[in-house]
Amino acid sequence: MDYRKYIAERISIEGVTEEEIYSALALPPNLELGDYALPCFKFAKILRKSPVAIAEELKESYKTDEVISDVSAVNGYLNFKINKSALTSAVLKEIFQKKSAYGSSEEGKGKTICIDYSSVNIAKPFHIGHLSTTVIGGALYKLYKFLGYNVVGINHLGDYGTQFGKLICAYKRWGDRQEVEKGGIHAINELYVRFNNEADEQMESEAREYFRLIESGDKEANEIFEWFKSLTLKYVESIYDKLGVKFDSYAGERFYIDKMGPVIDELRRKNLLEISDGASIVNLDKYNMPPCLILRSDGASLYSTRDLAAAYYRKKTYDFDKCLYVTAYQQNLHFKQIFKVLELLGNDWSKDLVHVAYGMVSLEDGSMSTRKGKVVWLEDVIDKCVEKAYNIISDKNPDLENKEDIAEKVGIGAVIFGALYNNKIKDITFSYDKVLSFEGETSVYVQYTCARANSVLLKAEKIESITENYLPEDNEFEIIKTLADFSKTLKESAEKYEPCYITRYAVDLAQKFNKFYIENKILTAEGDTKKFRIALTSATLQTLKNALSILGIGVPDKM
Ligand code: ARG
Repeated sequence: MDYRKYIAERISIEGVTEEEIYSALALPPNLELGDYALPCFKFAKILRKSPVAIAEELKESYKTDEVISDVSAVNGYLNFKINKSALTSAVLKEIFQKKSAYGSSEEGKGKTICIDYSSVNIAKPFHIGHLSTTVIGGALYKLYKFLGYNVVGINHLGDYGTQFGKLICAYKRWGDRQEVEKGGIHAINELYVRFNNEADEQMESEAREYFRLIESGDKEANEIFEWFKSLTLKYVESIYDKLGVKFDSYAGERFYIDKMGPVIDELRRKNLLEISDGASIVNLDKYNMPPCLILRSDGASLYSTRDLAAAYYRKKTYDFDKCLYVTAYQQNLHFKQIFKVLELLGNDWSKDLVHVAYGMVSLEDGSMSTRKGKVVWLEDVIDKCVEKAYNIISDKNPDLENKEDIAEKVGIGAVIFGALYNNKIKDITFSYDKVLSFEGETSVYVQYTCARANSVLLKAEKIESITENYLPEDNEFEIIKTLADFSKTLKESAEKYEPCYITRYAVDLAQKFNKFYIENKILTAEGDTKKFRIALTSATLQTLKNALSILGIGVPDKM
């Protein structure tokens, strides 16, 4: 039960929406005063009254009931006391009724969100730099679905560019069909690296010719290209499976080659196109941005040109309410330019385009570069995490069955959770020891808490109903309040495009449960208390599972 919503629905302030009241509700400065508080300072300006007077007036008109048992006005705050037993039974009932749908909603009904994420480059390594876009996008995808939106996951493949000419040239010169078939993306990448290290002028010119051949529809060149593409996709899809990530469309840059014409015509018609040094550009001086390049002087299109065409195509095809682009902040300028150009073209939907930018991920032991071939493959990071998880688990609990399965859930969970724990804009250094710690703010800690809850439940009779009028103790009520906050957390996470709200929530709930577990008896408690505590354990486990599943993380029964 979302009791902030409950309160917000019962307060009306002229000129202030229910949403605004909802998000203003906070913890009171002093928890003795209540469980929730509405600071009235924000409304002073609109109402032209002092916060103290506003709080007093709201207190007079607020009707207490079986949920909110007491309201007080103190120093400009309106404080609410929740009827603990009413909240407790309401929350538990809702969890047992909705189960794996607890926290879900219909707020997105009838709305469509496109999420452009992971967007791999064909024939290039899928490396640790792709981790964030893949898991942030993947989490948002599942989150919006959970909130009732129609979601379209788009992998805007990097499948266009002169590098494909180079690759074909390298393959023709040094490649072997069987070897490449067997080595897949790794073999292709080796060819690319070798080209960059060894190509002379002659090869460079051959490469340009191969690129031209792909473009002009030459059968052989296109067959080789398509083959590279299928090898790359086969490879990345195996990683997507592990990370629990899905796409509805793989329309990449090449897909838009024949869709750019109308956009360029439109730019011309609206007098937005200028020629500068032979290139066609949109001048963005007025907006303090460098020009957006549309066509190079040789007439070739650019990354931006294809993105403009893609935006039109997506609007037309999906009629989105929002279209998100999950890429590193290095592309801030690119998206600012694209969004501005679309706005200048008169598309009011340009305001619905959002660049969801994130920081860099590096490993503790240095960085990477694709061209020189020193690159950390995401697959290796995942495998290493799973292997380390296996060792840790075996050490802790040598008799555990299905260790491989468990290690897979723990290791993959650690990679995902580790990448999602901080605000996404922060640069992060990925540390195996940190993400795999049982004590830290990790998925391992949360999963371990789940296993702990599960082992309690295995020994208990199944209780999914609760005693009415149970008055929870502090430890218990802390958990209840956190459980009740789940849907609010999801809503805010979706609004801010921040999966870290969910990871942090999971750790917080797990910490509160562990405190309760250590300080209170569960199975050896008596009567109603025992029943309640078992129900609380079960509700916590369900909620933690729901939170982790939005992130694509599985929960082992035992650890
Ligand atoms: N392939 C690009 C890269 O690796 C990311 C594409 C992001 N999406 C887009 N519509 N530009 O940087």
